Parts: sequence; structure tokens; C-alpha cells
Amino acid sequence: MKRKISSLPNDRPLIAPSILAANFAKLGDELAAAEDAGADIVHLDVMDGHFVPNITIGPPVVSSLRKCSNLPFDVHLMISNPLKYVRPFADAGADHITFHVEADDDPDQVFEEIALAGCSAGICVKPATPAEEIIHWLRKTDMVLVMTVEPGFGGQKFMGDMLPKIRTIRDYILKYKLRTHVEVDGGIDAGTVKQVSSAGANVMVAGTSVFRSPLGYKGAVAKIRENAGGPA
Ligand code: DX5
Ligand code: ZN
Repeated sequence: MKRKISSLPNDRPLIAPSILAANFAKLGDELAAAEDAGADIVHLDVMDGHFVPNITIGPPVVSSLRKCSNLPFDVHLMISNPLKYVRPFADAGADHITFHVEADDDPDQVFEEIALAGCSAGICVKPATPAEEIIHWLRKTDMVLVMTVEPGFGGQKFMGDMLPKIRTIRDYILKYKLRTHVEVDGGIDAGTVKQVSSAGANVMVAGTSVFRSPLGYKGAVAKIRENAGGPA
């Protein structure tokens, strides 16, 4: 049974550790540790070496990881032909699938394919893409993902100039009385989370700031949640 992102609460911040910063030699253990640490969602970055200049994981890895965690799997497709890969990732265990509006497939078709595959759907904008590019699809979207770094690599510096875009998207969601989650990804830590949270984000992807934190995973997740205004 899929755990769609649309079924998660949107009245408190949700923390989504990105396994890109985890130890790839023991990913299953890392996932279990993130779950123990209080993570709400697991964020899985899929890169194809074409849409972005890096290559990460494919469906076989997601399928193996599925056995190591009960948390919802939020699969972020940074790939050129998302339509072709929706079904393989859904079959491998994705609960939620996000694709980029800049990818070359028709978003309406990708949304349809994600729905047919039984997952919730997300649309993502790179830093250079304005909020207006995704407003047309807001009603079909369970979660909008605003990149706060250039997609491709973990450990980059948070781009503060993305804050107005987060605000614009949150304002549209409020205006149309939608339940859409707003997720941010890139350079999110206990400091920057305050800014994105005030701007209207409620789902915080955090790679480096969780998996490489001196506080340990539990301490890191708790601190990010607290600074996002969530319950202790
Ligand atoms: C970047 C990825 C991010 C990345 C974030 O393209 O989409 O999910 O893992 O990493 P940090 O949190 O280290 O910036
Ligand atoms: Zn990501």
C-alpha cells in the first residue's frame, strides 16, 4: 500500500533526509537510522548524467531499500525522460514521484502516469525557473519542490534568493485553498530552515545537515524540526 505524500499532515513541518549524503556502502542501515532519528519521509535523488551532471541510483536500489524502511519514499527524478521511468520507480517502491518542469516530457502526461502508478505527484523548479511556470499544474500537484541549489550535488550553499519564489507558491496555494505541500531542497540546515519555513515551506529535505551532523542524526533532525517551528 502506497503512503502518498498527500496523506501526510500539512500543519507542521516534515523532515525528509536525503540519502545522497549518507554512506552508500551501508544505505539500508542509514535509512533505518534516519527513521529511528524521527525522519518523516526519505528523499531519494535520482540523477541520469544528462539532465544533471551526476549519476546516482535506479529502480533496483530503490527496490532493495524498500525492505529497510517503512517511511514514505519521496523520489526526486532529475532525469530527462521522467515519463519513461515513473512506472519502474513506482514498482520499485516509490510512494511519491517528483519530476522537473524543465524536463522534456509533457507534464500532463507525467501527472497522469504517476496517478496510474498509484503514487502522489510532485513538480520541481530549478533556481532559474519562475514560480509562474508551475502554477498551471498546481491542482494536479500534491507537493511542489523548490530547488534552493542547482540540482546535481549535495553539500552546496543555500540560495537565499529563492525565498520570494517559495512565498509566491505558498500564496497561490492559500489563494486557491489547496492542500499542496511545499518542499525545499538544497542547503537546508538548522539555520536556513528558519527562512524557508517563514517563506511558506513545510517539507524540508536535508542531506548534509543530517547525515554529516556532529549532533548525530537524531539531534540533527530534532534541531531542524524545532527551528522550522515544529513540535519538540
Ligand atoms: C541536489 C539534491 C538534494 C541534495 C541536497 O540535487 O536534489 O536532494 O541531496 O543535499 P544537501 O542537503 O546536502 O544540500
Ligand atoms: Zn533532491
